[in-house]
Amino acid sequence: MIRENQYLEVEKSVNRILSQGLIFDQLTCELEKLISHKYGALNVDTNPAVININDWKKEDIEFLVKEYSGFSNESIHLFYDALIHLEWDGVKTEVQRNLAEEMGSLTKGVPHLVLMRRGYKQELGVETEGVQYSACTEQLLNKMRTVFRSSNNAYLCGALLALEATATFEFKGVEKILRALKHRIDGGEINADSLTGEYILGHVADGPPGENPEDDHYVGMRSAIGTYITPEKGEALTKGFVAVCTALNAWWENITIEIYARRLDFAASL
Ligand SMILES: [Fe+2]
Ligand SMILES: [Fe+2]
Repeated sequence: MIRENQYLEVEKSVNRILSQGLIFDQLTCELEKLISHKYGALNVDTNPAVININDWKKEDIEFLVKEYSGFSNESIHLFYDALIHLEWDGVKTEVQRNLAEEMGSLTKGVPHLVLMRRGYKQELGVETEGVQYSACTEQLLNKMRTVFRSSNNAYLCGALLALEATATFEFKGVEKILRALKHRIDGGEINADSLTGEYILGHVADGPPGENPEDDHYVGMRSAIGTYITPEKGEALTKGFVAVCTALNAWWENITIEIYARRLDFAASL
């Protein structure tokens, strides 16, 4: 049960990757493998919340959804922070395209966060407005804000790339969590035409390439960034990428521990 070992392994892998002085395409390929092989919480089949969801009570899942909404609410601001600090026009254009989607370009003009807030409240009974987050969620948000306010453009691009590289399976995990909550509430399903259904479909769809918004973001971001990253900038890019993956992976671990710790809260069990 000593989990820092896995992060020391990440560091070793990162040092090995950096020692090779790779060109951008090879580097991104190695970074993708790093997520698959080293970050258990960033893969749907091994994410600690997703694999334990069947053992959790409705209150546990409600708590998780509320906490996760903190990150969802923050992500549009992270994109704006990046936009403010970016000097590379091609990447700025890609971030702006992403922001337009957040504001509703693919969801009938309704911003993603409006769909999320209303859907969570009306369909899942989870309030996400004016709520307090637990310490580990605040820690994640603070870390992300610091990373996305970096003035080193290569570092910032690494962070943006990581956000998109992790988004598809993160959303697939969140979809499973939301469906599990709906099932606990009334045994029902989340319909595609519901607010939450539209929110999910605005991010992940089981369609062919080009019809899955988050995969599309990753491909778009990778090609926009590739123009600017020379091998000398590879180290900064890698550090930004790994900083985001580490913060997200640690949050999923911490929030899962928090859920078990809450069950031991004496007052809550009375
Ligand atoms: Fe979104
Ligand atoms: Fe995205």
